[in-house]
Amino acid sequence: MILDLKDLKPVEKQYYLQHFIAPRPICFASTIDKEGNVNLSPFSFFNMFSSHPPIVVFSPARRIRNNTTKHTLENVLEVPEVAINIVTYDMVQQTSLASCEFPKEVNEFIKAGFTAEPSTMIRPPMVKESKVKMECKVIEVKPLGYEAGSGNLVICEVIRMHIDDSLLDTNKRIDQRKIHHVARLGSDWYCVVNENNLCQVEKPNTQIGIGVDSLPLSIRNSRTLSGNDLGQLANINELPAIDPSFDDANLKQIILYYSINPADMEKELHEYAKKLLAQGKVKEAWQVLLTAN
Ligand SMILES: Cc1cc2nc3c(=O)[nH]c(=O)nc-3n(C[C@H](O)[C@H](O)[C@H](O)COP(=O)(O)O)c2cc1C
Repeated sequence: MILDLKDLKPVEKQYYLQHFIAPRPICFASTIDKEGNVNLSPFSFFNMFSSHPPIVVFSPARRIRNNTTKHTLENVLEVPEVAINIVTYDMVQQTSLASCEFPKEVNEFIKAGFTAEPSTMIRPPMVKESKVKMECKVIEVKPLGYEAGSGNLVICEVIRMHIDDSLLDTNKRIDQRKIHHVARLGSDWYCVVNENNLCQVEKPNTQIGIGVDSLPLSIRNSRTLSGNDLGQLANINELPAIDPSFDDANLKQIILYYSINPADMEKELHEYAKKLLAQGKVKEAWQVLLTAN
C-alpha cells in the first residue's frame, strides 16, 4: 500500500502516522491560565530535541472534530510555564482519564485523582505520583497551521528535574529497568517498558565499524545469520584474525562431527555463531565464523 498524504482526510492522516510513529513517550503537562486555574493533560507528540540547551517539545493540536484549541495551548500562551511529568505504568489509566475533554474550569488533578505538588521554580504544580518531573519555561510556541489537526509546537527549556530516588542505583546512576515507562502507539494501543522487553545495543561511538559491505561473502550471504547478526559482526573496527588460543568444546565437536560435509559444517557453525551473538559474544562468534571460512 502506498499513501499520498494529500489525498487523506485529517483523521486518516492521524490514524496512519500515529500507528507508525510509535511508541511515543508521554508528556503529562501541568499548566495554569492567568487566573491561576490548573490544567493537566497528556500529550504523546513529545520528545527531547536538545540537551544543551535542554529542550523538549510537545504539541497540543487543534481538535480534528471542530478545529478548536486545547486548554493547555491557551494556558502556555498566557503563562509560559509547564511542569512535565513522566508517565509510568502505574499511572496510565488515570492519565488517560485526565485526557477527557473536561470544561476549562475543571482541574484534572482532582478529576483524575492525582496529587498536586508545588513546583519550586514555576507556577504550575507537578504530579506527586510521577517519578520524574521537569519544571520548564516555555520559550516559544510555534503553530504548524490553523486547520483542524494542526499541531502547535510548545518548545520548553527544562530548568529543574525531580527524580525519585527509587530509580537510582547506589552511585546515583539511573537504572533504566526501574522506570516502567508507558508509551502511546496507534488507536488504543500503549506499550510498557519492563525488564523483559528491554534490550541493549552496544554503541559504536568509540570505533568506526567495518560495515556489512566488508564482511566476507559467506557471512554476508548466510541463510542463517540475520540482519541484526550482521550488524553486530560489522560493528568492529577491523576484520579479526584466527586466534589460535581460542578453545571451545562446542566448536571442536562441530568440526569433528561435520568434517566430511563442509556445507552442513558451515550451517552448524553459523547457527552456533548466531547463538553466541544473541549472548553478546561477538569476539567468540567471529572465531567460530573464521573456522567456517
Ligand atoms: C496518552 C495520550 C496522549 C495524547 N497526546 C496528544 C497529543 O500529543 N496532542 C494532542 O493534541 N492531544 C493529545 N491527546 C489528547 C489530549 O490529552 C486531550 O485532547 C485533552 O483533553 C487536552 O486537554 P486540554 O484541552 O485540557 O489541554 C492525548 C491523549 C492521551 C490519552
